[in-house]
Parts: sequence; C-alpha cells; structure tokens
Amino acid sequence: MTKRQLKLGAVLTPTGGPGHPYSWLDPEIPGDASVDIDWYIRYARLAEQARFDLVFIVDSQFITPSSPPHYLNRLEPLTLLSALAVATEHIGLVGTLTTSFNQPFNVARRFGSLDLISKGRAGWNVVTSGDAGTAGNYSLDEHYDYATRYGRALEHVEVVKALWDSYEDDAFPRDKQARTFLDPSKLHTLDHRGDYFSVVGPLNLERSRQGQPVIFQAGDSEQGRDLGARIADGIFTHAPTFEAGVAFYTDIKTRAAAYGRDPEDIVVLPGASVTVGDTDADAREIERATQLADNDFGKSVEELGRPFGWHDFTQYDLDAPFPTSALQYAERSFYTQAKKITELAVERGLTLRQTVEALNAPKLSPFTGTAVTVADELQRWLDGRALDGINIHIGHPAQFQRFVDEVLPILRERGVVRADYEENTLRGNLGIPFAENRHTRASRDGIAPPPLPGALPASV
Ligand SMILES: Cc1cc2nc3c(=O)[nH]c(=O)nc-3n(C[C@H](O)[C@H](O)[C@H](O)COP(=O)(O)O)c2cc1C
Repeated sequence: MTKRQLKLGAVLTPTGGPGHPYSWLDPEIPGDASVDIDWYIRYARLAEQARFDLVFIVDSQFITPSSPPHYLNRLEPLTLLSALAVATEHIGLVGTLTTSFNQPFNVARRFGSLDLISKGRAGWNVVTSGDAGTAGNYSLDEHYDYATRYGRALEHVEVVKALWDSYEDDAFPRDKQARTFLDPSKLHTLDHRGDYFSVVGPLNLERSRQGQPVIFQAGDSEQGRDLGARIADGIFTHAPTFEAGVAFYTDIKTRAAAYGRDPEDIVVLPGASVTVGDTDADAREIERATQLADNDFGKSVEELGRPFGWHDFTQYDLDAPFPTSALQYAERSFYTQAKKITELAVERGLTLRQTVEALNAPKLSPFTGTAVTVADELQRWLDGRALDGINIHIGHPAQFQRFVDEVLPILRERGVVRADYEENTLRGNLGIPFAENRHTRASRDGIAPPPLPGALPASV
C-alpha cells in the first residue's frame, strides 16, 4: 500500500481577504494583483513546480466599501480558471460557485467545460453564499433560510452530477466511414422534477478523463457538514488546533461512513497560515509583525458585520455589552460563525470593544517556526488524522517561497509529499476514485441508476 501523503492547495487571494486589510501593502504584491491574470498564472505555475495538488479560488458576490481589498475587485472564478487551464499542465483548478444563485444546468455546463479545457483538472467548491446581500443581485428580496439553502444545495449538486453523466464515455463513435457521430443508446436524459429544480436534460457535453470534476464543500454547520459528508470528495475548513482538527476530521469521516461511503474517498483540507523563520523565535516575530501590520481596530469593527449579514456595528457604544440582538441579522448569512462570536462575548461577558479585541488578538498558528518545526508539525497532523492536506493562503509571497524552498524539500525527503505528480487528473492526484458513469455502472450491474433527492418516483 502506498504511503498516505500530505495534499497541498494554494489559495489565491492576492490583495487580501477577511482579516487582511493591509497585506496588499507588501512590496511584492502589486495593487492590481487580484485582477491581473499574469499574477495568477505566475503563482499557479510556482505552485505547480512545487507539485501542489490544486489552486483554490474563493468567491463572493456582494460587497460594501468595508469589504477586504481582494473582495472589492476580483476576477470571476471560472473565467479565471479557464485562463489558468491553458497556462498550466498538472495542477488542479478549483473554483467556488454558489448553489443559491445559479441553476444546475449552467453550473454543470461551465464546470464540465473547465474539466475538458484543463483535461481533467477541474474542481467545484460548493457554497451556499454566506453574504446575505447577494440575494439583492439576483432579483430576490432576501437570501434563503438555512433549510432552503442546504436543501437547494443537495438537490443542486445531485442534479449537476446527473447532468455530467448525460453521455456514457463511449457515446461518440465519431466513425467517419460509418457516418456515425453518436450512439444514441449512450445518451441519457434526466426528466428531473424536484423540490427546487426542474431539469429535463441531457447536458450537451461529454465527460473528461476524470469522469466528473471533483466536488469540494465548505460550510461548518450541522447541515453544512452533513452535505459535505454526503456529496463532497474534499472538504475545506478551518482547524485552529490539532485537537479541533482531529474532532472535525473524525466527524466528517464518521458522517461519510454513515452515508455508506468509504471515508478514505473524502479528503479534509483545512486552511493554514504558515510562517517560516531562521529560528522558532524569529518565525514567531515575523508572524507577530505580519499580524500587527493587518491590525486596524476601525476596520475590524466594520468587518465584524460580515458574518452578521453586514450589520453595522459602528452604531453601538463600544464599551457597552456586546449587542447579542445582532445575531438575528446572521440568520441568513454566516450563522455558524456569527453564533460562535456571540457565544464568546456572552461567555466571557465582553463589551463590543473587548469582543473585537479578542477576535483581533494575535493568533499563534501551529505551523510557525523553522522549516523543520513546520515540517514536523504538518507531519504530526497528517499522521494524527487531523487533516489529509492543507490549503495555504499565498498571503505574503516571500513566505510562500520559503515554504516551497525550505519546508517542502524536508517533507519530500521524508516521503510526506510527492516528488512528482502520480496521475494526469485532479482526482488521480488526490487519490479519489474515477467517477464512473452512473448509467454505465447501472447497466453493468443490472440495476436502475440512483434516484435524485426530491425527485418524483419514475412511475409518477
Ligand atoms: C472554509 C470555508 C470557506 C468558505 N468559502 C466560501 C466562499 O468562497 N464563498 C462563499 O460564498 N461562501 C463561502 N463559505 C460559506 C459557506 O458556503 C456557508 O454559506 C457559510 O459558511 C454558512 O454556512 P455554515 O453555517 O454551514 O458554515 C465558506 C465557508 C467555510 C467554512
């Protein structure tokens, strides 16, 4: 059996996401990097040379002037990834698209196209949109409640996957002599009528060499975890400590097993901040200076509003108890995150000012230290089943370079990361099985293809 290796993702948010209002001041980050395709190509290639599994493009579609720099002005994920597809050869290309404000047919078509353009390297990060204001950009008065958000998400993904299987892999003989382009017995329509979507199908696109794009999922609530365990091949999350990582990892794998899945077929990739120094103390000092440079109390008060549906916290007395009534504005936003913040304030009896200060307090990343310290810790988390891989934000390019130049060679020497790509698809490199076409499988096994959630039985 081959040794389990650490998976690597690179998150490309050049001018800085939430909590990083000033990382764009770094001399190595051009002010327009978030809309400059050459910047993305450069870092995708660097990650590819370092044998990363994937680049990851986060996304949102609602901003206020208080949004972080990268969010204020950024490229649409699938357009961006299509450009990266022709500028790279091996690295996986994962983009975020919301199930709340898209229809399954156009999602299936766009990701199916990216999968063909990239020759089997596409991945879809399924989100339900935390920013409640997005609804206003899609002809709706308000965002869906959680039950609807996650109900739509499950049905949406299942319909997309079914559309991707419209053609069996041998559907196109393309036999010029016989003048036969298509074998119609290998083309399958959908006729889906569910709770949220009606889709006749079929999709007008064949499958790629990995069968279907890889499905990732990010969402931390009970519903979010359940959705991930049920439909995802990979999970993006946060893991502040080893213990928290193990608890989340175990929870996801247990839920996946309860859905009859092999827990090894789903990879858990928390986001991680990595800081490398000449000594452990030096690394902690770099980490502290980096966090201080991003620290801006006024901006933090504004940004606190985001999980609460961009509620305006500047209207409150900073020295009064934390306004717990604000949680109501989070109900259709990032509720899990907002609830954690509110509970923290209540448990510790904090004022609004103290809550913001507590959130802003320097966070000691477990992956800060010399190259050996960081390598040791990553290996401990991998061996201890706190993760299958990590997603590294390319926040400060010099630090990313140190990770590539100093940490990865140690891990490679130990066999913890790959020396070269094993396969020519994202699925293959992540160790996730090829997605066999459901109709091919059903006819081979003499059974009916699996029904979709919310779908009416065939006889109705
Ligand atoms: C690690 C992580 C990454 C996420 N990335 C995005 C994103 O890029 N775009 C987005 O609209 N929502 C993103 N979300 C939000 C989720 O899709 C979801 O709407 C939100 O977390 C609220 O659901 P929850 O309470 O289940 O976590 C992310 C969530 C997590 C936990």
